[in-house]
Amino acid sequence: MAYTYSLFVECRGSGSGDGAFPQHPAPAHGGVRRKLSGLPSQSNQEVLQIRFAPGLIFAGFRLRLCSMRTKSALLLLQFWLFISTLLASALCQAQDKGTTVAEPPVYTYRQEHDWDGIGKFYAGREIAHVMGHQAADWLERPEREDEEKPSLAVVSLKLKLGDVVADIGAGTGYYSRLLAGKIGTNGTVYAVEIQQEMLDILTNKMAQLNIHNVKPVLGTITDPRLPASSVDLILMVDVYHEFDHPYEMVGAMIKALKPGGRMVFVEFRGEDPKVPIKPLHKMTVAQVRKEMAQFPLKWIETIEVLPIQHIIIFRKG
Ligand SMILES: C[S@@+](CC[C@H](N)C(=O)[O-])C[C@H]1O[C@@H](n2cnc3c(N)ncnc32)[C@H](O)[C@@H]1O
Repeated sequence: MAYTYSLFVECRGSGSGDGAFPQHPAPAHGGVRRKLSGLPSQSNQEVLQIRFAPGLIFAGFRLRLCSMRTKSALLLLQFWLFISTLLASALCQAQDKGTTVAEPPVYTYRQEHDWDGIGKFYAGREIAHVMGHQAADWLERPEREDEEKPSLAVVSLKLKLGDVVADIGAGTGYYSRLLAGKIGTNGTVYAVEIQQEMLDILTNKMAQLNIHNVKPVLGTITDPRLPASSVDLILMVDVYHEFDHPYEMVGAMIKALKPGGRMVFVEFRGEDPKVPIKPLHKMTVAQVRKEMAQFPLKWIETIEVLPIQHIIIFRKG
């Protein structure tokens, strides 16, 4: 029986932040106000698509040419396919509902909130907007070395040749390049980003500079997608305060650390009103320590050698 009928039922749950990520076009720091657009609620973009291929119409046409018995059989088959389509679509919707309510009760949301924040609160602070790739030049500004002393920050980490380091929220790779020089060709820097545009800039710069030990990794807002127990040191420079899911990110980063591995926060000093950065983009040592206290991390030291940033170091316990 030559009978063509094709039907596809496709369920696609985007999961927590995989894929689409809205960009924020203006610089976040140095007094420049960013355009706001809240991150998606990270998970609720389930798409249900039911596609009937042209075969369905074609099948109806062919039906007229068949005998009565064949017609009844075909009608039965058509009916059965219709019912299975409905069942499959209901199943997809049920599955989607089951995957969207994943957030632990550690976050609260407020309508009234800071212009520089996303209206989502964690451990008593509002989470800041992510810096969009459109502001990439700000990360590469020539005066950055004078203002922030990134080279000194990297020296303070006392890295060894052959170390495996993750630069989470690597941006254009400003820090990844410095790290790459410290760990040598046998070491690896995982440069993790959630914006593919940043990773493209980073990859081009590494190629121009002939740096081969930096591996770009496209993470998600909940997961840096690093191999388990593989990293000696995780560095976050001016990043943690803008994690959309800090609780999940820290949990996932701890999994990626080797036993005894270090997790390092470089954050603009929240205690100092003279630091010319917007409040939501700064952090106090007390706040960082408070947020890490619930994880299997031991605070090791806070290094205060930089002009306007803390270096806060924890060890996986
Ligand atoms: C202010 S920039 C800092 C870039 C870089 N660390 C530097 O100092 O040059 C923050 C970066 O963190 C990235 N980011 C934010 N949340 C992230 C997450 N959950 N995982 C990875 N990257 C993230 C943003 O896309 C942005 O490029």
